Amino acid sequence: MTVGREGAGPALIEVDNLTVSFGRLRAVEEVSLTVAEGEVCALVGESGCGKSTLAYSLLSMVPPPGVVSSGEVRYRGRSVTRMSRKQLNEFRAADVAIVFQAAMNALNPVLTVGRQVEHILSSHPDAFATAGEGREYFERLLQLVRLPPGGVWGSYESRLSGGMKQRVAIAIAMLLRPSALVLDEPTTALDVLNQRLVIDILRDLHETLGTTIIFVTHDLGLVAEMAERVAVMYAGRLVEVGTVDEIFYGSRRHPYAKALIEAIPSVVRDEALIKSIPGQVPNLLDLPRGCRFGPRCELARPACAEAEPPLVSDRDGHSVACYVANEMLERAVVAP
Ligand SMILES: Nc1ncnc2c1ncn2[C@@H]1O[C@H](COP(=O)(O)OP(=O)(O)O)[C@@H](O)[C@H]1O
Ligand SMILES: [Mg+2]
Repeated sequence: MTVGREGAGPALIEVDNLTVSFGRLRAVEEVSLTVAEGEVCALVGESGCGKSTLAYSLLSMVPPPGVVSSGEVRYRGRSVTRMSRKQLNEFRAADVAIVFQAAMNALNPVLTVGRQVEHILSSHPDAFATAGEGREYFERLLQLVRLPPGGVWGSYESRLSGGMKQRVAIAIAMLLRPSALVLDEPTTALDVLNQRLVIDILRDLHETLGTTIIFVTHDLGLVAEMAERVAVMYAGRLVEVGTVDEIFYGSRRHPYAKALIEAIPSVVRDEALIKSIPGQVPNLLDLPRGCRFGPRCELARPACAEAEPPLVSDRDGHSVACYVANEMLERAVVAP
């Protein structure tokens, strides 16, 4: 069983007790998370908490020397972790696509956008009845990402602005009509106007194409605006999974999630009240005993330093890994 939400659509992606290691360092540890079909899910946490590693593992794309040391990722019940290279090539284009962080550098600098699109279409000849249909679909995607169809096709990356590159990268990722799009920090490197555009575009993709969206961010403002569900990571582990309402306004919250939210300028009106979270993410090779957030937590008690708190779900599927927060929970069900 994985942490999910009752009443949501069927599971599209299931992360089942996943641990991803770089040598002795566990960048992702025992993470279980279900993303339902059509959902918009945000992955948040400070830098170094394992968000990108978890995002890459959804497509079995963790860079070497990273390895999945336990658990697996499933897509519609099929193990992605065990796919062959050939199966992965098909899966990554047609089922789950990714837009990397700083997509500015993801486009091939020596090919025009049009040549890249044609290359993808010719290596997936079954995706459309004809290559012309594929090109037409790409033009529709360009409209969706607010780019003039004619203006981009013959362009090289160097001719496009950062915001345009990011939008072209989204259109290319969507070319073979994947069910889900994973985006790592989609707005981080952009100016405010382009951030706004990308948010509107992702919303459109979700609404008009029904695309399931999983995005990594440290921008909690973006989360409030876009996501339905939020998974909060701390030092490689999930510490809270819930709806935006539960995470932002709920009565039972992980102290780390609460601290992240209180550090958002737009949530705290009075600048003087913005709290930065004291201390820093621990070295993953030298973790504190018990709760890894313990040393930074204002609610920590001696018992917190004894054992890692389990992720405990309530009946709505809201999950929190904190002894103090969970004390108030009646009829707790322990998530595995
Ligand atoms: N290629 C790599 N080799 C060694 N360690 C890595 C590699 N990639 C990530 N890590 C480590 O894994 C942890 C999580 O990194 P990452 O997933 O990039 O976090 P985030 O995206 O939340 O900033 C960090 O401690 C980082 O140093
Ligand atoms: Mg990252």
